[in-house]
Amino acid sequence: MHLTQQEENMYDGEEGLGVEKCMEILVALGDIYGAKELVPITSAQISGVSYKTIGDAGLEFLEELSKDAKVRVPSTLNPAGVDLAIWRELGFSEEFTKKQLAIVEAYQKMGVSTTCTCTPYLVGNVPIMGSHIAWSESSAVCYANSVLGARTNREGGPGALSAAICGRTAKYGYHLDEGRYPNLLVDIETSANGSDFGAIGYMVGKEVGGGIPYFKFKTPPSTDQLKWLGAALASSGSVALYHVEDVTPESKWALNVMQEDKIEKLSINRNNIDEIRGKLSTTNEKPDLICVGCPHASLEEIKRVADIVSGKKLENMLWVCTSISVKAASDRMGYTDIIEKAGGKMVCDTCMVVAPIEELNYKVVGVDSAKAANYVPNMCGLEVVYNDLENLIIEMK
Ligand code: F3S
Repeated sequence: MHLTQQEENMYDGEEGLGVEKCMEILVALGDIYGAKELVPITSAQISGVSYKTIGDAGLEFLEELSKDAKVRVPSTLNPAGVDLAIWRELGFSEEFTKKQLAIVEAYQKMGVSTTCTCTPYLVGNVPIMGSHIAWSESSAVCYANSVLGARTNREGGPGALSAAICGRTAKYGYHLDEGRYPNLLVDIETSANGSDFGAIGYMVGKEVGGGIPYFKFKTPPSTDQLKWLGAALASSGSVALYHVEDVTPESKWALNVMQEDKIEKLSINRNNIDEIRGKLSTTNEKPDLICVGCPHASLEEIKRVADIVSGKKLENMLWVCTSISVKAASDRMGYTDIIEKAGGKMVCDTCMVVAPIEELNYKVVGVDSAKAANYVPNMCGLEVVYNDLENLIIEMK
């Protein structure tokens, strides 16, 4: 791989040990994937934050790196394992939280913004179309590539952090035009709503694997619906980019490069969607914990939750997972108050998958996200029910 003189110097350790280690990671990745060069990036989004997923080995790696490395581009963090403010109230242990706080502190020392969210594009980390970035949370990668038209591979946590510290990443895959051609045409023959988008994403992700679907919907999806679709595509498959006809910014270009008569096709009708929705639940029992906000909820989604629970008292616990910034807006709008009066909680910095919810004595988790339905049984060992929020809440008698 060709390196500029400055990159050679970084690789040789002239800018410190941390930069040297990170350059080694970037060059190794570039060699594996056949990159010819590195490309400057404008933003990073870094996963590998929850103590539940990275453990002591991850914490040690970060503490070591934070001794002399700093990020060169605006960088944000993925969700951590606890709400950094109300962890005790939610029932998380002191031991776990101590380790979690040390991880966040190491990132902060390196200059990473500790917003801890998988929807960085809702809190100011918004790359412009065509810009090269290094993001690692799979749902955010899908959103950045597809909805914003930025260019990123599905980086691993160390890859994204190395890119942030070096200000560049290996140029291959989704950074190149030829890495962005669609290879499956998906015709949604029915109108879709709410959790249908997760079910569609789940089904298509399984079909396309690491490919690039091009969707035709009856009506244009909203940004929240695109968020749910992409999260599900990225969890059942390894999708990093999709196009939606007349909606996503590269869809016209994609239509031109796609040979519609030769490309593989998939049609999805109402029965297909309902069948998948059923399969995403592992039990018929009532959920004792409902978690919405996977990916982290937007203000519009929180408003919807507030509208649904307004004036009610819930029998099951409700978590609305979001970022600290969106919660601040929700507080001001009065949505938080409505949700808390119904017995729910606004949970920031974390989510139902990366938090150790299996230690909180819940048995059945109700979710409206196909990604969460896919991950909660494996990552938390709990039963899951997939449905729209209206059908998950139980009112107190
Ligand atoms: Fe985000 Fe957690 Fe879902 S990181 S995408 S809320 S699994």
